[in-house]
Amino acid sequence: MTGGAWRPSNAACLSGRPEPGPSRDLDGWSGRQASSVLCRLLSASRHSDEITEALLRQKLFVLGSLVIGSVLYLVARVGTLDRLQPICPIESRIHPSEPEQIPLRALQFKRGLLHELRKGNASKEQIRLHNLVQQLPRAIIIGVRKGGTRALLEMLNLHPAVVKASQEIHFFDNDKNYARGIDWYRGKMPFSLPHQITIEKSPAYFITEEVPERIFKMNSSIKLLIIVREPTTRAVSDYTQVLEGKERKNKTYHKFENLAIDANTCEVNTKYKAVRTSIYTKHLERWLKYFPVEQFHIVDGDRLITDPLPELQLVESFLNLPSRISQYNLYFNATRGFYCLRFNIVFNKCLAGSKGRIHPEVDPSVVTKLQKFFHPFNQKFYQSRFHRPCQRVGWPRLSAPSRSCSSYQDGVVLMSPILFAV
Ligand code: A3P
Repeated sequence: MTGGAWRPSNAACLSGRPEPGPSRDLDGWSGRQASSVLCRLLSASRHSDEITEALLRQKLFVLGSLVIGSVLYLVARVGTLDRLQPICPIESRIHPSEPEQIPLRALQFKRGLLHELRKGNASKEQIRLHNLVQQLPRAIIIGVRKGGTRALLEMLNLHPAVVKASQEIHFFDNDKNYARGIDWYRGKMPFSLPHQITIEKSPAYFITEEVPERIFKMNSSIKLLIIVREPTTRAVSDYTQVLEGKERKNKTYHKFENLAIDANTCEVNTKYKAVRTSIYTKHLERWLKYFPVEQFHIVDGDRLITDPLPELQLVESFLNLPSRISQYNLYFNATRGFYCLRFNIVFNKCLAGSKGRIHPEVDPSVVTKLQKFFHPFNQKFYQSRFHRPCQRVGWPRLSAPSRSCSSYQDGVVLMSPILFAV
């Protein structure tokens, strides 16, 4: 061996036959013995290098996961709620007089503690600590059945300052429930922070005679939301729901045409409930005896299906809430054929399958007859009596309103009272 330390080659070590080292004995070891020991030492050191590397990789992986996890958590909790900016120009045109300030803490609660409360998981201590209360609704979606009441409620619930009553309470339209008193009603409301507003929806309220007076007695300044769809479509939707119920019970049911058209007169059958419900003016008339027009807001249910954001922004404005619902919160689900809701990057949902049923084919002549029948009522309800400035309405087909946008002040729909009987 000339200079430097001698080591057996890798290949020799791997082959298991290390070449002999320098012929000189090392403390009495033969060259081959020394070579073999060195091979084992080298292999042990390589092994320990690999272990160290693997451990390092593992540590990096755990650290990386922790960082990514924390970032995702933060984004999920506060990111979407705080950074969502309205993209629709409506906000810049229609300003609620004094937008309320919603503390960020409340936004976090909305997805955290309040969610637990809804599931019944929060303790009394937490309720007391966070000053949570069950509040009577400050706004009610009073109808119209099949107008899109569930979609409207769920979409409004995206707003951090809105808390929805999940179930239809049927307090004002059901005599038995009404007899239970206002505290029973309050007890059905979700927990909320004091500055939040509770909203409930029971579409039967719109068509039930006693309801306007009963709601007026509870709160004469309550805000009332009515969501309407093109009346013939709504009637068919109503029919489809009943038909599905019958089919589930293996019962037969009439065809829509036979219910909607009186066989004796060949005229529209105004005794058929699905037809009567679609005569919106007739029901509104009862409500206007108790509440001024400023307390109503009409939501275009057809537009809520195809382009929900502008409709929701008008409601935010009507409720004097800062605009918080954005396009981020609504995504079109091609499979469902409807917009679904995105609360944050980890939580999104579509409405139940019972929303968005396929309607049966209806004889086109019956559809035309119904549309003609509803037309004058629509005109009175929609065109001549109240305005939805800055927005095209779906039916009857109207050109863009000529009124200036400023007529929509303080987030209130301007419309005049109409009182006439069908
Ligand atoms: P169809 O089932 O006739 O399509 P309501 O909640 O008042 O019962 O209204 C039901 C209607 O809401 C449905 O009627 C559907 O068209 C409409 N709707 C509006 N937006 C929707 C959405 N994002 N997802 C599902 N259904 C929606």
